[in-house]
Amino acid sequence: MEKKTLVLASNNAHKLEEIRAVLGSMYEIKGLKDIGCHDDIPETGNTFEANALQKALYVKEHFGMDCFADDSGLQVEALNGEPGVYSARYAAKNGKSVGDNKDDANMDALLEKLNAIPPVAIAEGPLAGSEGWKACFRTCIVLVQEEEKYYFDGIVNGHIIREKRGDGGFGYDPIFVPEGYGETFAELGTEVKNGISHRARAVAKLAEFLKKEK
Ligand code: IMP
Repeated sequence: MEKKTLVLASNNAHKLEEIRAVLGSMYEIKGLKDIGCHDDIPETGNTFEANALQKALYVKEHFGMDCFADDSGLQVEALNGEPGVYSARYAAKNGKSVGDNKDDANMDALLEKLNAIPPVAIAEGPLAGSEGWKACFRTCIVLVQEEEKYYFDGIVNGHIIREKRGDGGFGYDPIFVPEGYGETFAELGTEVKNGISHRARAVAKLAEFLKKEK
């Protein structure tokens, strides 16, 4: 039987690869370029849900295809959920010069803010006895299928620590230690991270939903 097509509203090769690994046997997963979409899709929402919905609906409206989109970011409790939807551009949002390394600039902007706020003692796990700021990474996936919208959420809780550690990953990985671990996402490596990450958890929920539908 011919596979149904599902569009992921992204051109990020890493995301496409990760999604195809989970859903590729059931669906032909196409990225934006594969459907001839070269537009800069607006992301103007105040929440991950709103941004993911905006991207998925854009594809549905302009290309008439079922689509899903994701939006992710870091939320720090002591900063009322910041950087949130500004995760990718937190340094610029705070008026900092960004330079060549956007990830470093974003982490520096975040640590500068956090250093003005007392950290909490970490009670459990390998980091017990040290200090950090409670945080989580979140991913929201929105699937627009025919006329329906479905939401899938993935969360990984942890702490932001004072100093960057590790070379792997991207974004805020060097300063985020997931709950139950003693190393940052950047130290843990791709395999461990992809087993527990916010994105992996949201994708697993989407896959479960689509498998039940088949
Ligand atoms: P996106 O919506 O997946 O493009 O993520 C937006 C921003 O959130 C990224 O540019 C990163 O700054 C941050 N972010 C999302 N996921 C991760 C992660 O797994 N590790 C570190 N930073 C992340």
